[in-house]
Amino acid sequence: MVAVEKPQTEVVRETVHQQYESLPYPARDPEQELEMLRQPTVCELPRVNALLGGGHRVFDSTFRVLDAGCGTGDATVFLAHQLRGTGARIVALDLSGASLDIARRRLRARGLEDAVDFVQAPIEEAPSLGLGEFDFISSSGVLHHLPSPEAGMRALRDMLKPDGAIAVMVYAKYGREPVYLMQSLLRMLAPAEFGEERRLRILRRALQALPQENRGVRGLLDTPLFHSEIARSDAGAYDLLLHSQDRPYTVPEIYDWLDGAGLRLLDWGVPRAYRPETYWPGSDLGHLDVAQRAAVAELMHGRMAKHQFYAAHAEVSMPVQPQADERGAVPVWTAWGFDAQLGPALAGAGARLKFTMGEEREVTVNGDALNRRLLGDVDGQRTVGAILDSARGAFPAQTADQIRRRWVELCDSMREIAALVLYAPAA
Ligand SMILES: C[S@@+](CC[C@H](N)C(=O)[O-])C[C@H]1O[C@@H](n2cnc3c(N)ncnc32)[C@H](O)[C@@H]1O
Repeated sequence: MVAVEKPQTEVVRETVHQQYESLPYPARDPEQELEMLRQPTVCELPRVNALLGGGHRVFDSTFRVLDAGCGTGDATVFLAHQLRGTGARIVALDLSGASLDIARRRLRARGLEDAVDFVQAPIEEAPSLGLGEFDFISSSGVLHHLPSPEAGMRALRDMLKPDGAIAVMVYAKYGREPVYLMQSLLRMLAPAEFGEERRLRILRRALQALPQENRGVRGLLDTPLFHSEIARSDAGAYDLLLHSQDRPYTVPEIYDWLDGAGLRLLDWGVPRAYRPETYWPGSDLGHLDVAQRAAVAELMHGRMAKHQFYAAHAEVSMPVQPQADERGAVPVWTAWGFDAQLGPALAGAGARLKFTMGEEREVTVNGDALNRRLLGDVDGQRTVGAILDSARGAFPAQTADQIRRRWVELCDSMREIAALVLYAPAA
């Protein structure tokens, strides 16, 4: 009898599959689902709406979403929650049946199960499953675990409608250097044949026993993201430090990757993180183009652990985002439920107003009465023109231009952390 060897890509995928069957990621308890709504940044619907349709995309039964590599369902749940009652449909796809089962139970706990179809399959084969095309595809923390991320990205492109967008999160190279140092060590200390339990025991013992000055140990324990992964669950620790397939990206590699798949970068999840001025105000970078500046920003930051970005078909032009002072544009907060928190936050504000909306999404602005008024008037309905005119009535000592300049500064700061988007004027 002739033994037929499996191709290497299948072996890699099977090992990854086994990991997520026994350690579904992230660790989530459907019984506690209603305690909090997790809001992955790049899945905030107002932002998706602004990018796809200038704010005029209709979310109805024709709107189709794919969560590719949905895991235990953070993005699926958030998208389904925001799309509740619209008739829009979501496909949640993953290799791991155990993960899909948790995702399904979480959606059921929220009464959202009916809006979602669950598919257990590899992303690479999804285009041949007859799932159709999608307006929005989210794929967070997945493509860097594929034997060929290139094949994965091409598969997503093949399922994207011409005017659709993909939101991706992949690991970043430089910020994860401590992770790769520890992964190399653990491959020797706790090889795959030891099995999950023993490997996890060795991992935890090593972190305690090794000198805390070790660059890997210190980098892990000093970085809140890494620290919480290790502390929170075995699934998190294994995913971070014992993964069999993990390929990080630099900014230039992301541009090349998208280019090779016939896609182009639309925007970064948190635009501010990819501007060199964030880290070195006044740095002289006139000789660099936008992509090079983003590459410089990653190097200046030095500790970015992941990249989040939106991509679209390379040849399709997407809506241009309005200028901050376009009077007919409508500013909209991106985070779910933010309007309700804003009033009390503004009422208690001091001279400086700090906005924190999660990782890399923090900005401090002047909290004086004019700024509080301008921000308080953002309700997803009023136009920029109406907000400016109303502020002018309330602050007669300020000229219209002074108020306009204040607004532009505020609005752009908020847009840089993706806290706010501008919907284009109605046609
Ligand atoms: C790190 S988890 C991320 C889960 C989820 N997207 C999130 O952000 O929380 C990676 C997920 O990708 C899935 N996965 C890995 N390779 C895959 C493939 N080739 N096709 C489909 N899913 C895959 C795994 O089963 C796992 O659930």
